[in-house]
Amino acid sequence: MAQEQDLDFKSMPKIELHAHLTGSISRQCLHEIWEVKKAAGETDLEDPLVVMPLGRHDYDLTTFFPLFSSYIYNLINDAPSLEHSTKSVVRDFATDGVAYLELRTTPRAMPAAGLDKAGYVAAVLQAIAQEEAQTQTQTLHTRLILSIDRRNTLAEAYEVVSLAKQFRAQDQGVVGIDLCGDPTKGDVSLFTPAVKEAQAVGLKVTIHFAEAEASASLAELSTIMSWMPDRLGHVIHVPEGVKRQIEAQTGIGLELCLSCNVHAKMIVGSFEAHHFGEWWRVDGPVVVPCTDDVGIFGSPLSNEWRLIQEHFRLQREEILGLARKGIDVIFADDDEKVRLREIMW
Ligand code: IMP
Ligand code: ZN
Repeated sequence: MAQEQDLDFKSMPKIELHAHLTGSISRQCLHEIWEVKKAAGETDLEDPLVVMPLGRHDYDLTTFFPLFSSYIYNLINDAPSLEHSTKSVVRDFATDGVAYLELRTTPRAMPAAGLDKAGYVAAVLQAIAQEEAQTQTQTLHTRLILSIDRRNTLAEAYEVVSLAKQFRAQDQGVVGIDLCGDPTKGDVSLFTPAVKEAQAVGLKVTIHFAEAEASASLAELSTIMSWMPDRLGHVIHVPEGVKRQIEAQTGIGLELCLSCNVHAKMIVGSFEAHHFGEWWRVDGPVVVPCTDDVGIFGSPLSNEWRLIQEHFRLQREEILGLARKGIDVIFADDDEKVRLREIMW
């Protein structure tokens, strides 16, 4: 098709707003880190390319979360591996033509490395800044969102908010908070005071929303909507009444993750059945295609846009218009929005 030929999705400047840091690490990068540790006798773990063979992307909700807790977190467990992997993630997004990236990560202490949660966040921010300073990534600007895990206690959630506040000060790169983690775990209403605290100090809020049936009870969705989050992630199992509520929230961002939802079988059917098709034209909310965990699901942002064109037949101007609309819902300040309006086609 002529249209598909005239849009080069890799060179199209793009915005990525829903990317988990650890889930965005490529298998090649994990393998490089493993090789160094193995040679130094620092790990008994199996080669990542054996645990997660190249080309395997069919992780579902039962196999996905244990991959982190029982494998990747044991490999990325010290300052050098954190620095190496963070830089590699930033470089991969830059190479894919991403002009603005909001990475998110769950602060975790690395006792073996003497890093507490604040040390972890500082190390991630430093690695991002160093990688961005490299010439090949100069058009990419990255911000960081700190995630609360659904299994956290309220005290742990407050700690995330407090870290976000600390690292937002003096423009250190943190712009907001997220609520993520295994959707079959936890009761989100526990976090209401922490989310309110974040908003009271001016942090932006994005929430994993109706990602699985287990996290889509009316009680949970009503609680989350009552927080008035700036953006919602996934937005899959949404009853009609809640859809109308979302439609009425002009300017709310919807971070939709096509490949993740299809590969993890979070939706029924394949790409053409994805709720992107339902939402992208709706006035009010702003739809932003995102990767979620490109290291696991293997589809870079340029490919997500290609899939959108292939399965939903958007015209060139519709694609460019939608990509630019995403600028409205980034968590960075107006200067960054002005920069993006200048460089996005
Ligand atoms: P990290 O926060 O940088 O360590 O990124 C990996 C973590 O993000 C995982 O352990 C999960 O808690 C979370 N995560 C990644 N993808 C998803 C998702 O699709 N839904 C909910 N949580 C997720
Ligand atoms: Zn996610």
